[in-house]
Amino acid sequence: MRAAVITALTGPDAVEVRDVPDPVPEPGQVLVDVAYAGVVFPDVLQTRGEYQLRPELPFTPGWEVAGVVRADAGGFAAGDRVAAMPVTGGLAESVAVDADMVFPLPDEVPLATAAALPLNYLTMHFALLRRAALQTGETVLVHGAAGGVGTAACQLAAAYGARVIAVVSTPDKGEVARAAGADEVVPVDGFREEVRRLTDGRGVDVVVDPVGGDRFPDSLRSLAREGRLVVLGFTGREIPTVRVNRLLLTNTSVLGAASAEFWRSEPGYAGRQWRDLVPLMRSGAIDPPIGSVFSLDQTAAAIREIDQRRAVGRLLVRVRDEEAR
Ligand SMILES: NC(=O)c1ccc[n+]([C@@H]2O[C@H](COP(=O)([O-])OP(=O)(O)OC[C@H]3O[C@@H](n4cnc5c(N)ncnc54)[C@H](OP(=O)(O)O)[C@@H]3O)[C@@H](O)[C@H]2O)c1
Repeated sequence: MRAAVITALTGPDAVEVRDVPDPVPEPGQVLVDVAYAGVVFPDVLQTRGEYQLRPELPFTPGWEVAGVVRADAGGFAAGDRVAAMPVTGGLAESVAVDADMVFPLPDEVPLATAAALPLNYLTMHFALLRRAALQTGETVLVHGAAGGVGTAACQLAAAYGARVIAVVSTPDKGEVARAAGADEVVPVDGFREEVRRLTDGRGVDVVVDPVGGDRFPDSLRSLAREGRLVVLGFTGREIPTVRVNRLLLTNTSVLGAASAEFWRSEPGYAGRQWRDLVPLMRSGAIDPPIGSVFSLDQTAAAIREIDQRRAVGRLLVRVRDEEAR
């Protein structure tokens, strides 16, 4: 089969498309013929060996896919339409995935939408509900709000009855964030003053932070009393530090949210989350904005778009030509 392969840890340019052996599913795995694969920031990190998970070179990246089950296995039947989270190996014509990371697709969800669902929506379900204990009526500030994690955060927070303030770097990203459910959109520069103005000086209850970097101190200053800042990642490249006296003096919290670690240690949890989200998929409350669709041969270009901060909405790779059933 054909697959994208990371051949050296030198960035997106070292991603090639090659013929590789077909995957052989182990017991408990499901073989999925991939229609679309989602491209995500962790793919960028993996091209430089900067992600926690460092498979031996050469290897096929690809966190999330949508496609069709090849043969009965793991409670799925041949022909079932599914989304799945292989974590590696998804940017290929077929991938073997642990059954508890394969999710049945409602008929009304197209495969191109489904490929952009698993990683970010399950992560934000975990981050907002389990880690931050979001309540209806609270206000959520979302950094990187036109990105994958960011748009999922906007849509889910809005679906759970929160007011959403999006932080973005360009006007076109602002439009994507607004379409994803943000009530207000503010620019990166000066976001703290805008938050203060929009909340009558009170601040926000939850900050969703996949960016980190030098905006972190202002994110902390934007929290209301008993506010929670959820750390998701560091697309700003710099990992910030916290002087904990600030947390003490303001009755605020900084929380980590590492969904993959949680899924590994609690088998079955991702499936329960998926079932929680299905009604929101059916109603259209969660519907990832697809920015661009690349061919498998263009995988390196797709990863480069994210690396260079140019991605607006989600990027997909269309792996198989046919629009699967
Ligand atoms: N903790 C978890 O469980 C978990 C799960 C999934 C992903 N993540 C992490 O979450 C982060 C976001 O992932 P994603 O897939 O949402 O990425 P994405 O789609 O590329 O979005 C990230 C956003 O970060 C902002 N950004 C600020 N500085 C940037 C820079 N120097 N380069 C690129 N983007 C920059 C951009 O928004 P503006 O231009 O508007 O500022 C961009 O839209 C990554 O660090 C990823 O590893 C964590």
